[in-house]
Amino acid sequence: MSKRHTITAALPYTNGPIHIGHMAGVYVPADIYARYLRLKGNEVLFICGSDEHGVAISLKAKKDGITPKEVIDKYHGIIDKAFNDFGISFDYYGRTSSKVHHETAQEFFKAIHDKDGFETETTEQLYDAKEDQFLADRYVVGTCPKCQNPKAYGDQCESCGSSLNANDLINPKSAISGETPSLKTTTHWYLPLDRYEAFLRSWIIEGNQKDWKPNVLGQVKSWLDEGLKPRAVTRDLSWGIPVPVDGGENKVLYVWFDAPIGYISATKEWAAKDGKDWAPYWQDENTELVHFIGKDNIVFHCIIFPAVLKAMGSYILPKNVPANEFLNLEGQKLSTSKNWAVWLHEYLEDFPDKQDVLRYVLTANAPETKDNDFTWHDFQTRNNSELVAIFGNFINRVMLLMKKYYNSVVPDPNEYSTVDTESLETIAAAPLKIGSLIEQYKFRAACQEMIQLARLGNKYLADEEPWKLIKTNPERVATIMHTAMQLAAGLAVLSEPFLPHTAKKLRDMLQLDKAVCWDSLQDEMPVKSNHTLGNTSLLFEKIENEAIATQLEKLNF
Ligand code: MF3
Ligand code: ZN
Repeated sequence: MSKRHTITAALPYTNGPIHIGHMAGVYVPADIYARYLRLKGNEVLFICGSDEHGVAISLKAKKDGITPKEVIDKYHGIIDKAFNDFGISFDYYGRTSSKVHHETAQEFFKAIHDKDGFETETTEQLYDAKEDQFLADRYVVGTCPKCQNPKAYGDQCESCGSSLNANDLINPKSAISGETPSLKTTTHWYLPLDRYEAFLRSWIIEGNQKDWKPNVLGQVKSWLDEGLKPRAVTRDLSWGIPVPVDGGENKVLYVWFDAPIGYISATKEWAAKDGKDWAPYWQDENTELVHFIGKDNIVFHCIIFPAVLKAMGSYILPKNVPANEFLNLEGQKLSTSKNWAVWLHEYLEDFPDKQDVLRYVLTANAPETKDNDFTWHDFQTRNNSELVAIFGNFINRVMLLMKKYYNSVVPDPNEYSTVDTESLETIAAAPLKIGSLIEQYKFRAACQEMIQLARLGNKYLADEEPWKLIKTNPERVATIMHTAMQLAAGLAVLSEPFLPHTAKKLRDMLQLDKAVCWDSLQDEMPVKSNHTLGNTSLLFEKIENEAIATQLEKLNF
């Protein structure tokens, strides 16, 4: 049954390029999900964009001696191009510096303000007298009160993952001047999360217990059990969206207030461009909303943004928030500031036609339930012994044998043996099996099932040995090749969410009819007798040791 789906992927900060950790945690799984739902005939809106406010960007501008606007333009350009070149199938990629976004975020703030949905409070906050600047979020570093990490930020400790308040830090220091801050009073608007506790508990804990991932539920539960407190949604900064009410002069919206609204503004921009109505994607109860994020974003997407949507009234809530854990690189935490990363745009320069290899490796080794490690050695092995030796090899054998025996025209099958029937049944059952894993956000397992079909194809040819029978029993060979063709075609369809470039190439090679799709595999063989195949080319090529050595050198490893 066709349904409307709004799929969001966390908006990346434009204070640097994106790396494989972001891809593995958020964008590759979200893209698999979006592609799958489209293949099933659903109405899908897949939204993302650049997150261009926040202290991280001001700090980067200061460090590089340029303006925040120059920083965001630079990285927005790099990130947008890299996503495109990599083949992430966003329907729209926006940015939070856009006019529509500024207006939309201000409308949200005003609407909640006018309903008395905020509380104001005057408190003493950390202040850098030398720079004449309040120190919120990343402007202050100090020791984490929970895990004693000496380099925690004012909003978050990257070591233990706790979300912090700048005033909680032990021995705080200004990230701009290095000075010990003083205290100065200031007034801010707070979202009273305590008012939403009962609603959040019944919606998430009682309502979604069964489908949500344990890591997500675990974090939400511990937040709720600690008791929710009002949270400031404004800041004394100059870079950001101006606070649109009296008393808001020289203040901006907290980046985590405006950023998720970016999903909605991006939807508005996309809809305007196509002459569509944006509202059903966010306000119709029949729309399924899913947020793809990394684990450090859980509280914002499961507690704060839902509270904002609830405060607004007419908005739907996410059906699921499948957050992933983190990916490490060669055993160490990925880090933008330490330049310990494989940057997507650099990967694409070094391996311009190997998008699917990285997608495959990041999916096969996805940090779905625990942190995982990316190593260049594993990248090489998965390419050479899985994509080349299993998937590529099977397709290449089928194509070559078809050409040799039948001049690339599919023969009529004769009587099916038990193995033939079993193989055909496996293909017919695969869409449901793989689809149900994708619907449970188990992309690793789903991808394994897909590659398993190629493994089956290889084994089928090796066991049936058509090359030994072509002279003595051509009737049997026709049946074998007819069956092998169905496996190859099944792979062309079922690999699309995981390996879209390969799937397209394979569909062309097989000259598959457009009508052959995810669901049709269940009731009909994808390739008919007399069908003529196209030209063959290799789907994957071996990656040599030198290429891997070059990458390791780049890391100084
Ligand atoms: N920029 C944030 C990060 O990289 C994610 C923002 S997601 C959004 O962690 F919902 F706020 F947009
Ligand atoms: Zn900590």
